[in-house]
Amino acid sequence: MIRSVVRGTGAALPRRIMKNADFEGMVETSDEWIAQRTGIRQRHIAGDDETTASLGEAAARAALDDAGLTPSDIDLIVLATSTPNNTFPATAVEIQNRLGMHHGFAFDLQAVCSGFVYAVTTADLYIRGGLARRVLVIGSETFSRILDWNDRSTCVLFGDGAGAIVLEAGEGTGAIADRGVLAASLRSDGAHKDKLFVDGGPSTTGTVGHLRMEGREVFKHAVGMITDVIEATFTQAGISADDLDWFVPHQANKRIIDASAKKLGIAEQKVVVTVDMHGNTSAASVPLALSVAITDGRIKKGDLVLLEAMGGGFTWGAVLVRW
Ligand code: UT7
Repeated sequence: MIRSVVRGTGAALPRRIMKNADFEGMVETSDEWIAQRTGIRQRHIAGDDETTASLGEAAARAALDDAGLTPSDIDLIVLATSTPNNTFPATAVEIQNRLGMHHGFAFDLQAVCSGFVYAVTTADLYIRGGLARRVLVIGSETFSRILDWNDRSTCVLFGDGAGAIVLEAGEGTGAIADRGVLAASLRSDGAHKDKLFVDGGPSTTGTVGHLRMEGREVFKHAVGMITDVIEATFTQAGISADDLDWFVPHQANKRIIDASAKKLGIAEQKVVVTVDMHGNTSAASVPLALSVAITDGRIKKGDLVLLEAMGGGFTWGAVLVRW
């Protein structure tokens, strides 16, 4: 059977780093509050010349280099983002053009923080369906552009950045020992749409709008939703938490990550945490965390890796990959 195998990874971060203490003169907050409640210590913030497209392009080029490929080898670009450069065309098409790629096809996918997990699942189906052989899957965001910088309950939480992987069609036997995407579960429930949203849009206000969140409400639902979808993925794959080598969760809040891992029985040393360095980068958070754990030598070929995310919508999901 066809398996979608990871061939390369890459990441890109804006030049400017903003530390928690940098907020202290802007809103009523403290380094201590932010660090204790979220685990965040710093985040990268895009400069005027840095956009979702430019960061996505840089992450894509890094992933292509890592894979030993060029843009001419790619058939499809799937970009997960909720902060596109323009309402349309898709920022994926802009990245395609920046890469000098004038063949194949490209589109954006919008599932907020779950975007990368949705995008990997989508790319896997295109590969297994025979519509693409090599896919660039990118998560790129510039949430700093949609933050209300006067709202201390949200502005301290998010950061900008991009991560990418190259998925390639490979051969598998159908067994759990195969390399590639092995199982996935996706969920959404629009009943929660007003708990984390942007208060503007082309068809409503005609403006871009700002991010609004009932943080406590999101927190309340997060752990249950995350653990349910992961358990569904374990059942699908016929594995348990003990079989995992690495857990790479969405990086929104260290307390959510810790509680989810504990409830699932995933050992602390198997959990990749980057929220301290990047804050919540929405669709970029999982590929950025992956890139860190691959670069520092933790995730190796053959490892069983679980990706998970939950965010606005609500949307949530998990993907199991043999690296
Ligand atoms: O990526 C999508 C998914 N998003 C998430 O997963 C975010 C989920 N939510 C969270 O991570 C947490 O709910 C937050 C980090 C947003 C907030 O932490 P919390 O422990 O739930 O705090 P809280 O909202 O209950 O607020 C506690 C207090 C409040 O003051 P009062 O009402 O107790 O007087 C807030 O006004 O902390 C106050 N507060 C702050 N204080 C200092 C809120 N933001 C800040 C701040 N600095 N930046």
